[in-house]
Amino acid sequence: MKLQNDLMLRAAKGEDIERYPVWLMRQAGRILPEYRAVRESVSGFKELVETPELAAEVTIQPVDILGVDAAIIFSDILVVPEAMNVPYQMLEKRGPWFEHTIRSAEQAKRVETNFDVEDRLGYVMEAIRLTVKELNGRVPVIGFAGAPWTIFCYMVEGHGSKTFSEARKILWTDPKLAHQLLQDITDVTIAYLKAQVKAGASMIQVFDSWAGILGTEQYATFALPYLSQIASAISDVPVTLFSKGAITSIPAIAKLDCNTVGLDWNMDIPTVRAQVGNNRTLQGNLDPCTLYGSHQTVETETIKMLNSFGKNKRHIVNLGHGVYPDVDPEKVKTFIKTVKSYEIN
Ligand code: CP3
Repeated sequence: MKLQNDLMLRAAKGEDIERYPVWLMRQAGRILPEYRAVRESVSGFKELVETPELAAEVTIQPVDILGVDAAIIFSDILVVPEAMNVPYQMLEKRGPWFEHTIRSAEQAKRVETNFDVEDRLGYVMEAIRLTVKELNGRVPVIGFAGAPWTIFCYMVEGHGSKTFSEARKILWTDPKLAHQLLQDITDVTIAYLKAQVKAGASMIQVFDSWAGILGTEQYATFALPYLSQIASAISDVPVTLFSKGAITSIPAIAKLDCNTVGLDWNMDIPTVRAQVGNNRTLQGNLDPCTLYGSHQTVETETIKMLNSFGKNKRHIVNLGHGVYPDVDPEKVKTFIKTVKSYEIN
């Protein structure tokens, strides 16, 4: 389908753009009262994720209400461990919880990789197909998955954590098991992302939310080789790698076969640009808390970020992480309006 607004794709590929494209991580979610209404009409988060008509509806909401330049499919990174026979629950106010964790070779026996992703994750592909149809070419649809390291964190730890010390422990006590599990996750993730592209996703983002808890050397050993396999396997659409907190690994990430490197708000755009050169797009990176400031503050800080891009136009505007659920959607609109009215050179 021909896209009416393909700014995101052009920015990702380094083609000419008339203005910077903008979207927000977690734009389909609790900031919107319209999302909360749909969410309250179902039994829980998973029902929403697993019902393609509803997932498509909340995916499109931010396009209609906020005017973002892309839709990100409403789902979660945790559908992958679930498909691998390590199911999750999303506990109200507490986040993800896994009944089974994988901390030994014995426990790893339950992990499945040999299945058809359409069989177990078909609801995601159906949500993408419906979204593409309903959007009718207005903006591209972003497909996504968690990076193997971040998925490993949840499969081993079994819930959220500040340190993921159980997950990091295995890297030291049983690196062989760690590599096997990371490879299994990678294999399933590649099949899953290819299926998303086939279903109509025009871009792919890989979220390595827990990249920042590994040292540089461990990130090179336990994360980069798997990210590299994923980036190389997805060849038909632009790929964004977002490794939150991985400041010292950014140059290595930028060398992988990706189009765009996501940056969190601790990363300095001119410094990163100098490190990675001109043939990668950078995405980010306003501090999500800026949106708690006044409209004037949001505008000033957004312009400051846009000015920091300098001469190179290869940028996709976003926050440095997901938008926080209690942010006023009007502040998000100010952020988006500021980006859209900013004239590049
Ligand atoms: O708008 C979008 O970005 C698309 C949807 C999306 C969700 N999760 C929906 C969601 C995306 C891209 C994700 C990715 C995701 N999920 C990540 C990577 C990005 C990041 O934030 O670092 C991670 C680590 C997860 C795992 C996860 N899902 C956690 C830890 C939680 C609980 C914390 C929280 O935010 O509530 C979730 C739940 C979740 N995923 C919600 C949404 C809208 C909130 C649950 C609800 O609405 O009831």
